[in-house]
Amino acid sequence: MPYIDWMGKDDVKDHHKNIAYKTIECKEEIGDIDSENMIIKGDNLLALKSLLPYYASSVKMIYIDPPYNTGNTSWVYNDNMDSPLIKKWLNDTVNAEDLSRSDKWLCMMYPRLKLLRELLKDDGVIFISIDDAEVEHLKMICNEIFGVENFMITLVWQKRYSRENREAIGDVHEFVSVYAKDYKKANINKLEITEEQAKIYRNPNNDPKGRWRGIPMTAQDGHATKDQFYEITAPGGKIHTPPKGRCWGIIKSTFEKHLANNRIYFGKDNNSQPNIIRYLSEVDGMRPWSWWPSSEAGHTDEAKKEINNILGKGNTFDTPKPVRLIQRILKIATSKNDIILDSFAGSGTTAHAVLEQNKEDGGNRKFILIETLDYAKDITAERVKRVIKGYEFTGKDKTTLYEKKLTTTQILKPETMERVSQEVSKILEDEKLNYTKIEKTFKENTIKVTGIKDIKSFKDGIGAGFKYCELSHDIFDEFGELNSKLTFDQIAKHIYFVEFKKPIDKTTIKAPFVGSYKSKYIYFFENKFLKRDMKELIKQNNNYKQIIVYTTKTSISDDELKDNNIIIRYIPYDIKDN
Ligand SMILES: C[S@@+](CC[C@H](N)C(=O)[O-])C[C@H]1O[C@@H](n2cnc3c(N)ncnc32)[C@H](O)[C@@H]1O
Repeated sequence: MPYIDWMGKDDVKDHHKNIAYKTIECKEEIGDIDSENMIIKGDNLLALKSLLPYYASSVKMIYIDPPYNTGNTSWVYNDNMDSPLIKKWLNDTVNAEDLSRSDKWLCMMYPRLKLLRELLKDDGVIFISIDDAEVEHLKMICNEIFGVENFMITLVWQKRYSRENREAIGDVHEFVSVYAKDYKKANINKLEITEEQAKIYRNPNNDPKGRWRGIPMTAQDGHATKDQFYEITAPGGKIHTPPKGRCWGIIKSTFEKHLANNRIYFGKDNNSQPNIIRYLSEVDGMRPWSWWPSSEAGHTDEAKKEINNILGKGNTFDTPKPVRLIQRILKIATSKNDIILDSFAGSGTTAHAVLEQNKEDGGNRKFILIETLDYAKDITAERVKRVIKGYEFTGKDKTTLYEKKLTTTQILKPETMERVSQEVSKILEDEKLNYTKIEKTFKENTIKVTGIKDIKSFKDGIGAGFKYCELSHDIFDEFGELNSKLTFDQIAKHIYFVEFKKPIDKTTIKAPFVGSYKSKYIYFFENKFLKRDMKELIKQNNNYKQIIVYTTKTSISDDELKDNNIIIRYIPYDIKDN
């Protein structure tokens, strides 16, 4: 497999293992206090590591939209680690002049992708927005981290619907790179069929079963069997055989079954080539494909309007994604109770899309967002809060009052144009008091009159809630001891994760019992583990396979512990899992 190397790779390869675990402190609860949604302010490298004890192998869909490293906007490299090269880069502003721009970007992305992979469920999928600047490098590191066999597709999203004229070849798309944790387990849902796509289903013969379309019955004859060549006599008497180089797509007995069930259409004259009837009601959706046009997945203008509506036009966030893009990803890659993570949260579009999707299908998906900049509170959390609670907005309500597409012949005919002009004038006169402004346009041979009303309105909240959190204490203090500020719960969750590499699966933890897994029981005795404690544990847990006790000291002998199948793990050394 081709392999990518860059400056600093050796330094970052295992960096994710050396990141300190921190506690995640909830600072504010917004809306429903039982909500498990979270927005964390902090560097995602630290936040992702700190999420592991709670969410390892639990996240179904990750969406990230990291800096694209185009050089047009700068970002700062600030992952401190013990390497002279990396220390030299610290707090560097990475911009167009920086010739090691890609090396720094790869050093920034690599450990984060490693942690993101650990958070993904076995059937989970990650979607990464990117553009031409780093798409090849991203693919190379993802092949290494997720495995080339788990590459699913690179989606092409049409971010703009109008021509971009600044470049020699206008750029209207971005990519979304898609990797599964395990390709064989990943499950991608179909998309609902839109009315545009359903247009081909019609009902010219008033079929009581509703709209349908005819599927041609022939196929290429390359792998055809004998059974796929036979004569079909149409009700009108015409005999059909497959054209040269083609065969029937179904064997004779299947054709006869379809015929008996009125599933074959021979055209209006009852004599045309047979088609199989497929009813719209039987279509269970469309397989997504790699081309995501702006008409279906939104565009950047729409994204900017979305956040302007919610936060006001003065907001300073310039690179939001449209809700429709992320909601489409949610539709194909999640089901109703999944956990969704976005560790480059920006304006919080991912949370907005999760709330919209839950509203649409009654789901209970949960989101975790991470944003490092100070606007985590005033933009990211504020947007999500307004979506939940409702917000006032001023905007424009547009109504099409008249629309007529003209042929070139009509345009060249003065009488026709005079008539259209009179129709338009009448509308302008009749409607002028009903709108703030009436706009008349003539584009692509279409005359359109639009009534525009300035509106001030209140958008109802979707409901739900989230916790606004910050990264707080290190699990270990500067002397390497367990931080004395931690609660039993926080230590228990950490111990459980270190022991079993999975998050604890209960909500209430009562000291000294931490949790159990496959008949192994874990306890945490903060001070000392005494003989009477041992007797109590043995009494409580008949049939245990093993008892694991985390503590600082014990006076019980090794033999006695062994006889009772009890293992002692000493704090802090034995919980420093790196
Ligand atoms: C392109 S924006 C994401 C936009 C987002 N998809 C939206 O729709 O609003 C990238 C975001 O990642 C944040 N970011 C960059 N480095 C980060 C880090 N190390 N930890 C957390 N957030 C980071 C930036 O501050 C920025 O807000």
